[in-house]
Amino acid sequence: MDDPRSDPSLVARTLRHLELVNRTLSRVRTLLRRFVIQDMVSRGIQQASVLDVGAGGGDVGLWLVREGARRGVSIRVTCVDADARAVGYAKDRVGRHAAIDIVHGSLFEVEGQWDYVISNHVLHHLRDEEIVGLLEHAWRICRRRIVWNDLLRSRFSLFGFSAFSALLMRGSYARADGLVSILRGFRPRELRRLIQASSWRGQACVGTLLPGRVYVVGQTTRCDGAHEGGGEPDYVQSARNSLAVSSSMR
Ligand SMILES: C[S@@+](CC[C@H](N)C(=O)[O-])C[C@H]1O[C@@H](n2cnc3c(N)ncnc32)[C@H](O)[C@@H]1O
Repeated sequence: MDDPRSDPSLVARTLRHLELVNRTLSRVRTLLRRFVIQDMVSRGIQQASVLDVGAGGGDVGLWLVREGARRGVSIRVTCVDADARAVGYAKDRVGRHAAIDIVHGSLFEVEGQWDYVISNHVLHHLRDEEIVGLLEHAWRICRRRIVWNDLLRSRFSLFGFSAFSALLMRGSYARADGLVSILRGFRPRELRRLIQASSWRGQACVGTLLPGRVYVVGQTTRCDGAHEGGGEPDYVQSARNSLAVSSSMR
């Protein structure tokens, strides 16, 4: 799909298939409920801003706005993506929503301040040094938390996605791209090493979720109540538990 010469109708169908993956396999909603919405609700926040980097078709941002409204939080989401075809699709699909802004551009260049910076299935598109660069950029533009979800590299993921996509993802780039993406995915220790090389050292941790997801959650030191009561932030315990549960997949 990343090839600029790709067939536009197949690109549109691929973005629809990515939406299906986001709803069913990606666990992105679990992560955003747990580390973004729950964080807002527990702090009594009524308004918050979120930047979704590499937002693709924008469906994750739309879900977040609606879920926030259901929990009494007004969330404004900025979706940024470098691919003009994804941006066009997102404008048609979610761009009319008043709480969503769609920006065409590089995730390394987007400027502003957001409470949360999220990403879903984007890190495996980047080289290691670019991921460290993105961590540094996020350190500057994020007020509270990053929540980044990606693919765990494992045989289980390859076989599982191969079967899922053979059944449900015909006529798009999603199956072929998805299998290559899993091979470019991460083991938790690889993401931990990149965090160590960035300003998020000691401020972010890595967890895993079935099926085949690995995530980074980080909290800036600047936000109030980062270590309320002297204990660990909620995400540290959660990531530790997730790694214990799924250690057989690493
Ligand atoms: C696999 S898609 C995921 C899209 C979306 N996050 C989702 O969950 O469906 C990865 C997206 O990251 C975008 N992307 C990759 N590198 C980027 C960069 N340097 N700047 C902005 N977007 C980028 C691609 O254009 C693509 O839309």
